[in-house]
Amino acid sequence: MSLTGRIKEFITAENAGYKLGEKKARVISIISQKGGVGKTTTAVNLGTVLNKFHNKKILICDFDPQGHVEKSLGSLIPDGLEYTPLSKVLTKKGGNILDAIVSTEMENFHITPGDKELSETEGLLSTKIGKEFIFQTALSSARTHYDYILIDCPPALGNLTINSLVASDYVLIPCEMSVLAFEGVSDLLDTLEVVNDRLNKKLKILGLLFTRVDGRNISMNDLIMDNMKKYFDGKIFKTQINVNTAINKAQLEGVPIFQFAPSSTGSQNYQALAEEVLKRTRSKIPNTPQ
Ligand SMILES: Nc1ncnc2c1ncn2[C@@H]1O[C@H](COP(=O)(O)OP(=O)(O)OP(=O)(O)O)[C@@H](O)[C@H]1O
Ligand SMILES: [Mg+2]
Repeated sequence: MSLTGRIKEFITAENAGYKLGEKKARVISIISQKGGVGKTTTAVNLGTVLNKFHNKKILICDFDPQGHVEKSLGSLIPDGLEYTPLSKVLTKKGGNILDAIVSTEMENFHITPGDKELSETEGLLSTKIGKEFIFQTALSSARTHYDYILIDCPPALGNLTINSLVASDYVLIPCEMSVLAFEGVSDLLDTLEVVNDRLNKKLKILGLLFTRVDGRNISMNDLIMDNMKKYFDGKIFKTQINVNTAINKAQLEGVPIFQFAPSSTGSQNYQALAEEVLKRTRSKIPNTPQ
């Protein structure tokens, strides 16, 4: 039997404990049109910490054709899994994200594997009626099964990112400590405002997360923080992610940082971030039944 089949079966059996639709995942888009700011690193390490230390059922959807989520977690993903590529699910009529999901060696931690074809999907979506709502519809049954769904967006504000925002409750914005960080902030905020106004009224900014922070660059860090406060006052995470080579090495090995170097700064930072995310999204989501 295919893994896709197994996941669906598992989910159906689990529903004995829930009424379908009772359990609503918190859906978080991790976005920035800037490349290399830590979107994938945050999706992978926040997701694995929420699963491992907080017993949350997690799905990470990889919306980036680069497929870095699967690469970052390569050692947890068995070979030869059967699934429908995300690009197909998004472009066929009545597509369901459950078909694009595979399980991993971590219990209750699932992903959609990398799919290069998503770069074509970006263009194909333009031709579809109701193009902004395709992912929201395809995600509706998955929303009833997970505690958190994290979407690793591509470094662009195109159709895929808009689809992700329309299906989301929150956005988490990683921001590197560099003067280039200001480039595109107003475009990003404009996009969020338009999506909020026209397509998804419940979308909220969960927080701006400073990533790859080098504590030695005090004056640069202060400058960036002070200026970002003007845009994101009250929304900046207290937790910052420091520069930590263990994060980079973990990604090369295909394992989450909590496993690769449990006591590293990177591991501690992502554990602190998870606590903050839980607080900011606190609501009636029940824990996974044991
Ligand atoms: N805190 C950190 N310390 C050291 N290296 C880091 C840190 N965060 C991320 N990196 C490294 O920086 C690189 C870019 O990170 P990542 O892939 O998460 O960015 P991204 O925003 O997803 O990029 P893209 O826009 O290309 O998808 C990776 O090689 C990653 O290992
Ligand atoms: Mg990425």
